[in-house]
Amino acid sequence: MVEVRYENVTKRYDNGFEAVRNLDLSISDGEFLVLLGPSGCGKSTTLRMLAGLEDVSEGNIVIGDTRVNDLPPGARGLGMVFQSYALYPHMTIAENLSFGLRMENPESRLPDEEIVKRVQDVAKLMELVDQLTKKPKQLSGGQRQRVALGRALIRRPQVLLMDEPLSNLDAELRHQMRQEIRRLHDQLGTTTVYVTHDQIEAMTLADRIVIMDKGELQQHGAPLDVYNNPENEFVRGFLCKHIDEIVDTANSLFPRE
Ligand SMILES: Nc1ncnc2c1ncn2[C@@H]1O[C@H](COP(=O)(O)OP(=O)(O)O)[C@@H](O)[C@H]1O
Ligand SMILES: [Mg+2]
Repeated sequence: MVEVRYENVTKRYDNGFEAVRNLDLSISDGEFLVLLGPSGCGKSTTLRMLAGLEDVSEGNIVIGDTRVNDLPPGARGLGMVFQSYALYPHMTIAENLSFGLRMENPESRLPDEEIVKRVQDVAKLMELVDQLTKKPKQLSGGQRQRVALGRALIRRPQVLLMDEPLSNLDAELRHQMRQEIRRLHDQLGTTTVYVTHDQIEAMTLADRIVIMDKGELQQHGAPLDVYNNPENEFVRGFLCKHIDEIVDTANSLFPRE
């Protein structure tokens, strides 16, 4: 069981700017939580503090029973997928998948047979079995994105973190990968924190959405609850904007005579 907790967390960057203010948030075991908000509202900062890539200025971050503020990223049991998921171009897909495991210190490194087995398991899970001996440039964009996900999952993380992982994909592929990410979550049950500025993505993926603006949590709840009962004008405006966008898209697809 892993629960993740932000306890009154503030992030102040060196220049004094407060990117996240007094964040109190619990994420339950197995939950798919989406952090949603406009660009610059503090989503990535929130995620990066959990990942250990940014220091926490005030408050605590807790994973399971452990306060992790001072733990290095590698000791937190997390998997991460980012928007720019650079794969190593000269390595095969199998080598890309296993790279992190192979680079571990000798004390914590898994035996070779276990690494080979994990590559097979994750390749099956991500439908990459026939791609393992290829190089990244021989794969489609969607397959490469699946390698990036596989690379995070091969560690069997307690918590999976994703920061706008689909932003570089075209609309169709984005749609397809969204379904795949949700399917994976339903299959594996890994506690997931997913960052996006895309309302539709958030509404379709999340068990619960957390809406942020200017570093502060505005509202959280099941997607439709928040959508139907926005607690303030910001949430109302931000969630309804996507309806306008759908209408715009429809109008451009079916222009009036
Ligand atoms: N290293 C930094 N120093 C100062 N300000 C930063 C730094 N990184 C991010 N910020 C600022 O913090 C705010 C939140 O950034 P970020 O968490 O990346 O937002 P989001 O992911 O929601 O777009 C932004 O205004 C950004 O300019
Ligand atoms: Mg961001």
